[in-house]
Amino acid sequence: MGKRAVIIDVSDDRISENRDLKDYIERHTSKSVLHMVEGELLVVIKDVQKGEHLTEGVRMLAGEIARQLGKLKIDQANVSTEILDRVFSDVDTNKVVTAFVEGWHLGNYDYVKHQSKEARYKTELHIDGDKVETEVEQGKRRAAAMSFSRDLMNDTPKDLNPTTFPKRLQDELAGTAADVKVFDKAQLEEMELNGLLTVGQGSEHEPALVEISYQGDASKPLVALVGKGVTYDTGGINLKQGRHLSDMRMDMGGAAAVAGAIKLLAESEAKVNVVALFLIVENMPDSKAILPGDVIRYKNGKTVQIGNTDAEGRLILADGLIRAGELGADYVVNIATLTGAIANALGSKLAGVFGNEELAYRMKQLGDENGDHNWPMPLVDAYENYLDSDYADFNNISNKGEAGSITAGLFLRRFVPESCKWLHVDMAGVMSSKEAGYYVSSATGFGARLLADYAEAVSK
Ligand code: BES
Ligand code: ZN
Ligand code: ZN
Repeated sequence: MGKRAVIIDVSDDRISENRDLKDYIERHTSKSVLHMVEGELLVVIKDVQKGEHLTEGVRMLAGEIARQLGKLKIDQANVSTEILDRVFSDVDTNKVVTAFVEGWHLGNYDYVKHQSKEARYKTELHIDGDKVETEVEQGKRRAAAMSFSRDLMNDTPKDLNPTTFPKRLQDELAGTAADVKVFDKAQLEEMELNGLLTVGQGSEHEPALVEISYQGDASKPLVALVGKGVTYDTGGINLKQGRHLSDMRMDMGGAAAVAGAIKLLAESEAKVNVVALFLIVENMPDSKAILPGDVIRYKNGKTVQIGNTDAEGRLILADGLIRAGELGADYVVNIATLTGAIANALGSKLAGVFGNEELAYRMKQLGDENGDHNWPMPLVDAYENYLDSDYADFNNISNKGEAGSITAGLFLRRFVPESCKWLHVDMAGVMSSKEAGYYVSSATGFGARLLADYAEAVSK
């Protein structure tokens, strides 16, 4: 038998009856303490904070313990529902189990494809308790969906590009009830996805639109999820400068979120009616690339001056919004690593949500619960004229050096079909993180859970 650990809390006899050990544990500032007692490795959960959004506490703790035990090359850890119930007494048992499993697997996540080091040692988790299988499975599915988003984001632009990305989506969804359609450049021309085609002009890879529909219940309102899939953002002719350009391989983070969400919904056979739209393109400077000053004419007749080729995300999402209308969507959510300004406004722990105010608040509540934290942001009518253009209907950048995330939202609002209830999620600030709890260094996988839970929430 391999090495084992048992997860307990401070009320366990082995702790409560041993004063020295009790003191030792109390002196630790961490949320859990590892200790050998009579040849058995104990993981002692100390008192956890009581608060409003406890399931996140469960996930964070589980992720941390998983990594600690992995480092010690422990094969298996056991925890009982009784202990989880006692420690997290404010949260429903079912939710605790799902969150613990989810956090455990996410904490174990690693991405070593491009490294010579070995993969992380992964300690297996056993939850002892009656009838928890469904919750355990759901925890695994949520972690797998988010890990898929992380994998896509962490990959390099050489391996994940507009040629390979559609195939990756097809492979991942094969075997589920989701139907994957890939549209190539010729089809995009026919469909007049002129934003996507224009942004893609400078790349050796042709842009692509991927549409994945999943009808868990066709009678439900149609929810369209639209993701920005810029596999690399050089800025185009308005070439980016600075030292952190490596992160621009994650400029498909919105598409990765949508990919994780549709995987989660399909694999958990959710009773929803969803279409996922992926706008996939590489933003490159080249003699064929679009020039600042050029104009795009969209399918809905609107014309846009390219004030800056680096504001490419909104140009492709505009096509996605128009398409969502054509497909008859009742709800549309677009998600994107859209503006650096959102990180200035909200930092690296919250995404910004714009659009329908009631739904934005609903989104915030879902994030509080599932860990994809976000906050409603305003669309200020008085800033509309910041997008004025002298020779097109409007510009893709603001003529004022302020409210960069809001003006991006205002730009998108001009393309929202009248029949759709709309939200726009700007996740540029939250795409990557440092190691903490169930987060590991690099891509977060933000948005997969959020979009899946949102689709379910509006389908109730
Ligand atoms: N992909 C970037 C936004 C971004 C910045 C994401 C930092 C993640 C981290 C986007 O395409 C962009 O370049 N936006 C510009 C817009 C500007 C030119 C109006 C920005 O935010 O600076
Ligand atoms: Zn850009
Ligand atoms: Zn971008």
